[in-house]
Amino acid sequence: MEVAASVGGGDAKTPDSIIAKHCNACHGSGLLGAPKIGDTAAWKERADHQGGLDGILAKAITGINAMPPKGTCADCSDADLKGAIEKMSGLK
Ligand code: HEC
Repeated sequence: MEVAASVGGGDAKTPDSIIAKHCNACHGSGLLGAPKIGDTAAWKERADHQGGLDGILAKAITGINAMPPKGTCADCSDADLKGAIEKMSGLK
């Protein structure tokens, strides 16, 4: 398991760093049917069907179909994931 402790002398995760490291691989290009970064309509449609941002957050934590649990960020907290999802989706 890779750890980001070498950068900046701490474990400072930001939405951008999490997305760059973990989520962008699929969500940047829409790989495997992933909703694309910045495609708010696609994310909103999912959120509307799953009870909002917390609903899709729950799916991101457990994984759904080709979406791996926590989007491969095993050491991300729920809040870390939520920040990344807010940033990718443009939803609040
Ligand atoms: C290996 C590819 C992959 C990676 C890496 C990945 N995702 Fe996904 N993600 C997917 C795919 C594919 C879907 C669509 C799944 C479906 O509905 O069939 C998805 C869907 C989602 C959804 C919507 C879930 C729903 O209920 O509709 C969220 C939220 C999400 N990803 C968050 C993240 C976050 C946050 C990260 C980074 C920490 C991440 N993903 C990394 C492939 C990936």
